[in-house]
Amino acid sequence: MERRVGRALVRPRVLIVGAGLAGLGAAQRLLRRGGRHLGGVRVLEATGRAGGRIRSGKLRGKVIEIGAHWIHGPSKENPVFQLASEHGLLDEAAMSEENQQVEIGGHPLGPSACFSSRGQLLSPDILDSMGLLFFALLEEAREFVHAAKVPVPSVGEYLKEAIARKVREWSDDEETKRLKLAVLNLFFKLECCVSGTHSLDLVALGPFGEYTMLPGLDCTFPNGYEGLIDCLMASLPKGTVQFDKPVKTVHWNSSCLEEAPAGRTFGVQVECEDGEKFFADHVIVTVPLGFLKEHGETFFNPPLPSRKVAAVEKLGFGTNNKIFVEFEQPFWEPDCQVVEVAWDGESPLAEPPADLEAIWYQKIAGFVVLHPAERYGHILCGFIAGKEAEFMETLTDAEVLSALTEVFRRATGNPQLAPPRSILRSKWYSEPYTKGSYSYVAVDSSGDDIDALAQPLHEGTSDSKPPQVLFAGEATHRTFYSTTHGALLSGWREADRLLDIYDMSESPHAAL
Ligand SMILES: Cc1cc2nc3c(=O)[nH]c(=O)nc-3n(C[C@H](O)[C@H](O)[C@H](O)COP(=O)(O)OP(=O)(O)OC[C@H]3O[C@@H](n4cnc5c(N)ncnc54)[C@H](O)[C@@H]3O)c2cc1C
Ligand SMILES: *[C@@H]1O[C@H](CO)[C@@H](O)[C@H](O)[C@H]1NC(C)=O
Repeated sequence: MERRVGRALVRPRVLIVGAGLAGLGAAQRLLRRGGRHLGGVRVLEATGRAGGRIRSGKLRGKVIEIGAHWIHGPSKENPVFQLASEHGLLDEAAMSEENQQVEIGGHPLGPSACFSSRGQLLSPDILDSMGLLFFALLEEAREFVHAAKVPVPSVGEYLKEAIARKVREWSDDEETKRLKLAVLNLFFKLECCVSGTHSLDLVALGPFGEYTMLPGLDCTFPNGYEGLIDCLMASLPKGTVQFDKPVKTVHWNSSCLEEAPAGRTFGVQVECEDGEKFFADHVIVTVPLGFLKEHGETFFNPPLPSRKVAAVEKLGFGTNNKIFVEFEQPFWEPDCQVVEVAWDGESPLAEPPADLEAIWYQKIAGFVVLHPAERYGHILCGFIAGKEAEFMETLTDAEVLSALTEVFRRATGNPQLAPPRSILRSKWYSEPYTKGSYSYVAVDSSGDDIDALAQPLHEGTSDSKPPQVLFAGEATHRTFYSTTHGALLSGWREADRLLDIYDMSESPHAAL
């Protein structure tokens, strides 16, 4: 079974950079299917923990998600859902056939409480009608994937032009129009969180519809998303993952031929920040696109070819953060799913505020109420994207807590409203090995850039030699980028690429 390379029979040695879902998924698949034909699989992780952007934490003893929140589209085709079901990590409702068939195209909002910043609770009608309008336009925006030409470069510009036309048909009084626009602006902020971008003006219109939504009612992990990572870790032989091993440079194309103990030569050498060097035949790089944008130039020796450099530069990678606040008493109704604040005078058609640092909190798209209350008590999870989210990371907990208390007091019109008891935030932009939240297809880029990013690098000058550097991770999946299932599938894809080359699938039908 082993591939004959040169004079000797070699058992290929594989290194994986990054112990997120993509890296762990690749490692597990290689070990399960390649088994004894492999000369070793090792994962090098920069931080002291596995999971990457899957990270569960605790707020007052309650499990909350600092990273990935939902399984988007939990149904048969979704490998994260499959894996979570097999390991018994989901509750019964989430696994029901009924739930798997729901097609909602994003997570459902359910009953929500939308306040105006002037302290009134808005009528559900206005929220419903603006929601219908916004999501219908967003659907239209997805259809340009089949079009030869786009009317405008970005999703934001497309939505704004369509809304400007609608507004001219509105016969409401000025006050109602003002409210409707403020509510529409909330949906823009929400979509910024979904796309992990500062503004929808940065999201490319043409490829927008390539992102694919699977059926199923988005669900969460009652005991934390990280349970999935624990299962993967438990399935790997002890010592497979080495922690606190940030990789500094990947030397490939035999740029650093060295003798290894067994007297073999390896085409790839991975050099860590601490100076330790690892040798391999192949390396699967799963570092986030945010990391590559910052370190891509020095991370590879020889450097990445220009087509890949262009993809790294052009594709989008933004910040979406969460702010969890816990209250002693709720100021929302028990069935309420989301608390929102529509800022008086805001409009998607107006210029964005110049002084975003002064009013950063107005960028918060909404607060998801964690359910059930019996499990969580009274916790809200605020979502905020873009430059305001990055600025928020520079503030202290006390500063954020006091800003939010002011927001809730204004919204409810109750200047005595008790502040939250505790707070916990994500700071994904400041994480040195992530530098943001997830990828999107930015204006001037396309799905071809995602495919270019995913292309492996081969030794020498032709692609006939086996690939030395392979790429996985959320940002390398053309239709499921920005998700956990996209990450897992990309890891499997690169594991399979190697297994196919060596024709070493022992048991192609085994689990994973
Ligand atoms: C706030 C937030 C909310 C999200 N919500 C959802 C959601 O609801 N549903 C969903 O499906 N997805 C969601 N996602 C996206 C999802 O978390 C990611 O797409 C997925 O976890 C990415 O997995 P990955 O393996 O590609 O990357 P990562 O999990 O980032 O793994 C990469 C690993 O590489 C390591 N690394 C980086 N540089 C180096 C280096 N130089 N040397 C060694 N190791 C290195 C990192 O430390 C990290 O552990 C969310 C993400 C965020 C941030
Ligand atoms: C890889 O090495 C070959 C020579 O062995 C060279 O021709 C080629 O340009 C190198 N590729 C890169 C990307 O440096």
